Amino acid sequence: MAKGKGKSKGITEAKIKAFEEKRDVLLGMGGEKMIKKQHDLGKLTARERLDIFFDKGTFQEVQLFVKHRSTLFGLDKKEIKADGVVTGFGKVNGRTIFCAAQDFTSAGGSLGEMHSKKIWKVMDMALDARKPFVALNDSGGARIQEGVPSLDGYGGIFYRNTIGSGYIPQITAIMGPTAGGAVYSPALTDWVFMVKESSYMYITGPDVIKAVIGEEVTHDELGGAIAHATKSGVCHFATENDEDCINKIKTLLSYLPDSCHSPLPVAECTDSPDRECPELDQIIPDRATRGYDMRKVVAAVADNNEIFEPHALWAPNIVVAFIRIMGKPVGVIANNPGSGAGVLDCNASDKASRFIRFCDAFNIPILTFADVPGYMPGTQQEWAGIISHGAKLLHVYSEATVPKITVVTRKDYGGAYIGMCSKYLGADYVMAWPSAEIAVMGAEGACNIIYRREIAAAEDPAAKRAELVGSYEEQFNNPYFAASMGIIEEVIAPRETRKRVATLLEVLKDKSEVRPPRKHNNIPL
Ligand code: HXC
Repeated sequence: MAKGKGKSKGITEAKIKAFEEKRDVLLGMGGEKMIKKQHDLGKLTARERLDIFFDKGTFQEVQLFVKHRSTLFGLDKKEIKADGVVTGFGKVNGRTIFCAAQDFTSAGGSLGEMHSKKIWKVMDMALDARKPFVALNDSGGARIQEGVPSLDGYGGIFYRNTIGSGYIPQITAIMGPTAGGAVYSPALTDWVFMVKESSYMYITGPDVIKAVIGEEVTHDELGGAIAHATKSGVCHFATENDEDCINKIKTLLSYLPDSCHSPLPVAECTDSPDRECPELDQIIPDRATRGYDMRKVVAAVADNNEIFEPHALWAPNIVVAFIRIMGKPVGVIANNPGSGAGVLDCNASDKASRFIRFCDAFNIPILTFADVPGYMPGTQQEWAGIISHGAKLLHVYSEATVPKITVVTRKDYGGAYIGMCSKYLGADYVMAWPSAEIAVMGAEGACNIIYRREIAAAEDPAAKRAELVGSYEEQFNNPYFAASMGIIEEVIAPRETRKRVATLLEVLKDKSEVRPPRKHNNIPL
């Protein structure tokens, strides 16, 4: 340094102080009064949520200083801190995740032009960096004063949701209001979490519904977490409160890769691949019409009996779940004879299909447990389009190229036998328990059709029917007819299931299947 010229001060302390003051004002979002209102509703602010979500000290905020530039309807005089949304990235259990968290304390988290551009920025970064994107929604919807730029803001989000679909995992948590077209970003993402009592989502709210069709309904009945977790299936996880919601998102992320090009996360495994599951030898009830909880089968096979179940309250006749086997994620699809006999209906087909597609998109192997009496008969299901819904299941299993292992535990009848990933639908390996019954239909129904005349003409029709049913059961109500034709690879003792599945996953881990080139397939939606 030249003599007599004083030490360079670089950025002056005053400038740093001014910067810190500006930043701190923005970090305060809607101010104490609004924050108290938020807390009184049992909700956290966006920043409090991010504090729970990200590993301590890792969150890096993006575009804190962005301001809206609308001058309409008094907005020229209104400062909206951070424009109502906190965006950035950080580490969740050591992995980089991008996030946008709307803050209801700041102009109701309403989405205007610049608010949406902040969200676009982190979505674009997530796509470029190939990392998951998580949205924590708490918003009054399109910023009404700004007009059409708000709607275009949503358009840009929907576009990015779609471009990122199957490329990076996308998760939305509904942690406050979500109304109108704003519901479509959540629906375009892979997973929707909702917080019980403090969140709701609907296309049109109770007031409009009352005015248009005279129906009276509360916000919660119409679009609360339980409504969407049990009736519409829009919500995959109904959570207890903000903290529970965020922790469950973290659990879900622990099963997912960063992108479709990234390896699956592998957890430390303290369970043995050779562990036998003797409890499974007892699980099939004596009576064929008796149900049992298929979750117990899934848990028995999983590392440390841990299962993570989306959609637990919707279409309970089928179970979808993430488990780990030897520390690696596996997607399970299982009929649940404990609910509605495990029948396949429209909702069960949709639930399973979306899950299978997600697993395939992100290279998560698929394990199917079949115990299914068939597709649900009746006008309600036919007119609801069970033909198209059921076709989805056939489509997604066929198109999936990940390892696909099927275990038949009991009934596996008719079209539903094919629908639960039969060999010629593309399963890599099919196993059956000795209790398996693989047939076109149940023995009673079959005999009523093929022996109708013989039964009617018999001196004792009931005895004749019993005799014929017995012979049909002997032929088909076992796995050996199918095994003799090579339609299933193995008959295994239930206790061996985990061991067999673990071995097969290891054997199939480098499976590669190539499909003919095309623009995209045309799933029967
Ligand atoms: C501008 C909004 C806003 C919005 C809330 N605010 N929603 N500002 N545009 N959409 C502001 C309020 O004016 C208020 O500002 C602050 O946020 C807090 O809102 P309150 O109404 O005081 O909160 P609360 O009483 O808890 O009521 C919450 C609410 C209500 C039920 C969500 O705010 C509401 O009805 N908002 C409008 C919902 C709506 O109809 N949105 C448009 C949907 S159409 P001040 O300054 O007073 O604190 C849509 C189309 C999207 O979103 C299409 C996408 C394709």
